[in-house]
Amino acid sequence: MKGLFVTMEGVEGSGKSTQIALLKDYLQTKGRSVDVTREPGGTPIGEAVRTVLLDPANDAMDSMAELLLYEAARAQHVAQIIRPALGRGAIVICDRFSDSTTAYQGAGRGLSKEDMDRLHGLATRGLVPDLTILIDLPVAEGLARAKRYRDADRIELEPEEFHERVRQAFLRLAKDEPDRVKIVDGLLPMDKVAEEIRSHTEAILSRSAYA
Ligand SMILES: Nc1ncnc2c1ncn2[C@@H]1O[C@H](COP(=O)(O)OP(=O)(O)OP(=O)(O)O)[C@@H](O)[C@H]1O
Ligand SMILES: [Mg+2]
Repeated sequence: MKGLFVTMEGVEGSGKSTQIALLKDYLQTKGRSVDVTREPGGTPIGEAVRTVLLDPANDAMDSMAELLLYEAARAQHVAQIIRPALGRGAIVICDRFSDSTTAYQGAGRGLSKEDMDRLHGLATRGLVPDLTILIDLPVAEGLARAKRYRDADRIELEPEEFHERVRQAFLRLAKDEPDRVKIVDGLLPMDKVAEEIRSHTEAILSRSAYA
């Protein structure tokens, strides 16, 4: 595979979508081919699963059913969109990926990290991001930001302790895999956050076959 796979992670409202748009513009200006996609979703099948997952009406959802729906959407996404794009040599930027499942369905819902890793391996057939940006932000700040521009989805309606477990799980992932997962302070102004993300991306580009 020739492309570069970058994922953007963080709690609700941490600035993922904002920063993906900025990174995409930056890379395209430098002549790179960039594909942006998101999870859950990214394909017609995945978007249909997304609707089921995020609908506040589905409050009866079993936590294992939830986990498997995320992984089902991911399997489709990797097979149909991400691997082909990487095969063409594109930089693929994905808004959330397996680390979100580890944080939300693992730490948030109390499912084991071992089960998570095994399922990610199956769903992605072993695809791991080359670079993961973790935009870290206090949970209350992220939820307040998100609330300003849209209605809460089913996951966001979880209590603050749930989101705190998610934040801590993301930070643990960064500690366990420092080469892959880079923490950026989401409290910084947008342009500073963007600058840090660009520098992490440039660092990996200069080390990869892209150089
Ligand atoms: N560094 C920042 N400082 C202050 N506000 C910001 C910053 N980055 C983004 N915002 C604002 O916070 C809100 C949420 O940003 P954004 O939608 O990019 O986050 P997100 O992580 O994609 O959220 P979601 O979880 O809803 O997908 C937006 O209104 C955005 O303009
Ligand atoms: Mg977003």
